[in-house]
Order: sequence, then C-alpha cells, then structure tokens
Amino acid sequence: MHKMIKPNILYFGTPVVLISTLNDDETPNLAPMSSAWWLNQSCMLGMSTRSQTVQNLLREGQCVLNLPSANLVEAVDKLALLTGRNPVPESKKDMYRYEPNKFGTAGLTPIPSHFVNTPRVKECPVHLEAIVEQVHQFASPSSIVAIEVKIVSCHIEEDLLMGGEKHYINPKKWNPLIMNFCEFFGLSPKLHPSKLAEPFMKKNYRDKKDI
Ligand SMILES: Cc1cc2nc3c(=O)[nH]c(=O)nc-3n(C[C@H](O)[C@H](O)[C@H](O)COP(=O)(O)O)c2cc1C
Repeated sequence: MHKMIKPNILYFGTPVVLISTLNDDETPNLAPMSSAWWLNQSCMLGMSTRSQTVQNLLREGQCVLNLPSANLVEAVDKLALLTGRNPVPESKKDMYRYEPNKFGTAGLTPIPSHFVNTPRVKECPVHLEAIVEQVHQFASPSSIVAIEVKIVSCHIEEDLLMGGEKHYINPKKWNPLIMNFCEFFGLSPKLHPSKLAEPFMKKNYRDKKDI
C-alpha cells in the first residue's frame, strides 16, 4: 500500500563530495555536498548561491571534487555546519558558523593540484580536478544553481584500481560515503551481476566515450 506524502527533502541517497575551491584571498575552502551526478566526463553540482563554494566557483571557474570513502565520515561530519562565508548569510545564522580553516578543522591535508588552482584533499582516495562549463538557474524562487563542470584530471588511490588495468576502478574496492536523507551510509556488497557492466568490460566497448 503506497501513501501520498509531502516530504521536506528528496535526498534519496547520493555520494558525498568534498568540494575544494579558492577564496578571493587565495586561501582554500572545503565543503561537503551531495547533490551531484555524473555523465561522461562531466558532473552536475546542485548548490546554493548562499554558499562560499558557489561564490568561489563563479569567480574562479575551478574546483576539485574530492570523493571521501566511508571511513572518512567523521572528518566530513566536522564540516557539516560550517561555512567559509563571512558574514554568515542571514538564512544560515541559526545553524552555521564561519570557519576560515576548514581543512584544519576537519583534520584533512591540502595537496597541490595539477591543472587547477585549488588544493586536493590528500586523505580522499579520488580527486577530480574540474573546470566550470555552465551555470544553470533553478526555477525561482530558489537560491540553488546547477553548475556543470568538466573533469580535466582524475587521480585515484592505486589500491582501488582493477588488477592489471591502468585506467579502471574496481567497484568492489571503492566504498563511497553516501548521504541518504541527511544521514551517512556506506554501500552494501555487490547484489547481482550487471548486464550493463558486461559489455563495458569487453575491450571493443572500452574506448567508446558515450554510454
Ligand atoms: C553531507 C552533506 C551534503 C550536503 N550537500 C549539499 C548540496 O548538495 N548542496 C548544497 O547547496 N549544500 C549541501 N550541503 C550543505 C553545505 O555543506 C553547506 O551549505 C556549507 O555551509 C557550504 O559551505 P561553504 O559556505 O563554505 O561553501 C551538504 C552538507 C553535508 C554535510
């Protein structure tokens, strides 16, 4: 029996991204976000313009999408009610506080990127250096924008690679941190063989850029 409801949020479970951007004084900002989806070599990021992150993305046009594994949950949670925006926007004042040193607060280490001006997060096993391509408005009234970024460089912790394969990530080894209705989860083990995965693992499909 289904019931018709009006949920406040529709966060049905997506991977957490720690997005690093550069402030206008050239210090780094770091923020958790999870309204992200991927297609080919691009990613769409849904974020509020009230965040320091969006201000930085609009000005600099660059970021790193650092993907934490489930074991980094405590560090991610330390960033949850912080903003790099000073003063804190009126709508966030009750819950959030300004924190200029997000890396230090979370106990995470900034390391230089190769193509963008933003540092990567050493402890995250995946770093995606990215360039802003387009900014899409949401229907008003909304402070949210959808920011389309193109991945220009992908760094992977070696242990996550498929044995003998230089450019393939082993999904059995990658354990993303998932935000599911504002709570943190990991993934369950593989459930079933996948018909989509089979052709992808065959050599003649591997070089195709589109699904
Ligand atoms: C796990 C997690 C996921 C989040 N996902 C999003 C999101 O997808 N979009 C968004 O605008 N804010 C999201 N937030 C809230 C931002 O992290 C928050 O607004 C933060 O203050 C942004 O930091 P900044 O102002 O320094 O950029 C999320 C927070 C957490 C803890």
